Amino acid sequence: MKELIKKFEQYQTPFYWYDMELLGNTLRVIKEESSKYGFQVHYAVKANANLKILKKIKEHGFGSDCVSGNEILRSAEAGFASDKIVFAGVGKSDEEINIGLENDIFAFNAESIPELEVIDELAVLKDKAANVALRLNPNLAASTHEYISTGLNENKFGINLMDMDEVLKVLEGLKNIKLCGIHFHIGSQITDMDNFKSLCDKVNGIQDWFESKNIKLEHINVGGGFGIDYENPDKNPIPDFKAYFKVFADNLQLRPYQQLHFELGRSVVAQCGSLVAKVLYVKNGVEKKFAIVDAGITELIRPALYKARHEIHNICSEEVREKYDVVGPICESADFFRKNIMLPTTKRGDLLAIRSVGAYGQVMTSRYNLRRIVEAHYSDDV
Ligand code: LLP
Repeated sequence: MKELIKKFEQYQTPFYWYDMELLGNTLRVIKEESSKYGFQVHYAVKANANLKILKKIKEHGFGSDCVSGNEILRSAEAGFASDKIVFAGVGKSDEEINIGLENDIFAFNAESIPELEVIDELAVLKDKAANVALRLNPNLAASTHEYISTGLNENKFGINLMDMDEVLKVLEGLKNIKLCGIHFHIGSQITDMDNFKSLCDKVNGIQDWFESKNIKLEHINVGGGFGIDYENPDKNPIPDFKAYFKVFADNLQLRPYQQLHFELGRSVVAQCGSLVAKVLYVKNGVEKKFAIVDAGITELIRPALYKARHEIHNICSEEVREKYDVVGPICESADFFRKNIMLPTTKRGDLLAIRSVGAYGQVMTSRYNLRRIVEAHYSDDV
């Protein structure tokens, strides 16, 4: 720990810290467990788009899952093969669709009839065929925060199943679209495996429907969403990928000619990242103290947006534990990381590590209050 503190003291706080060894170990487990069944994993770039992290993920042979033109360009820069890039999103702009076409990506996950028409129109102009998977909304509840649940009819995502007949009719006229598969994503931070089993059951029914129409789909993409243990980052640094992939192997009735794809984000990178902040002031409150740190919602918005609870460790103190609210400097009452958390006696200058923030941490930072853009440092930096 002393070594780490010495290393951290040379950096300007707050900063993101990535444990690259843990990332490597996580990637090895994902590779091992997914390869058992020949599953294809695409990393969801939206979780963390740092080039160094992307390059490491790419080295392990994964594809990428993008939700913007810039993510496609970033994936290409990191070396991801274009035929392993999938592109989802309810509102793809013409410019972004063109980026996908120019890069000959593996598949557009299309979310509506008007989007299919625009993809076709732009593909015609380029004299190209666009590979398209239909993103279907399975109308399935996922046990997670409402803001990160995506698979219900009330959500804006995907094509509703009742519109499928019409979609097929429209597709007949779209000659520059090649229907290659179907795609689903029911939500994020899902730890109850029954949710994924229900998804498999839904997909099985939908597969039968396509078969009854004599449509052969080569690819089934079940999205991402596998959750992590935010409460015990040290005890469970690597999610149970063995159990996760097994749910799909056991329950999804893949046809012999079909390939199963995943789009994993959080479960790949969340545990390898910490946000390191310095304590600026400790002030007395009623029956507790406030530890005011130099990071705020601008560096990590998850607690404010999703009521997310991240573990916090004071890496400079092992004294007796006291109750604190760990709060940021931003003029918003939502600017806190944890309330009523027990920490070792904390003083000005201590470094706090806010854990499990490798996913949806740094990528969601903002410059509100004209804050400085936060930097990243890596355990294998020399
Ligand atoms: N595929 C699609 C189509 C998605 O929308 C997402 C995430 C993923 C894959 C990756 O899901 P994951 O494996 O990371 O759960 N900012 C929120 C999470 C938003 C997730 C949005 N979609 C958070 O901080 O919890």
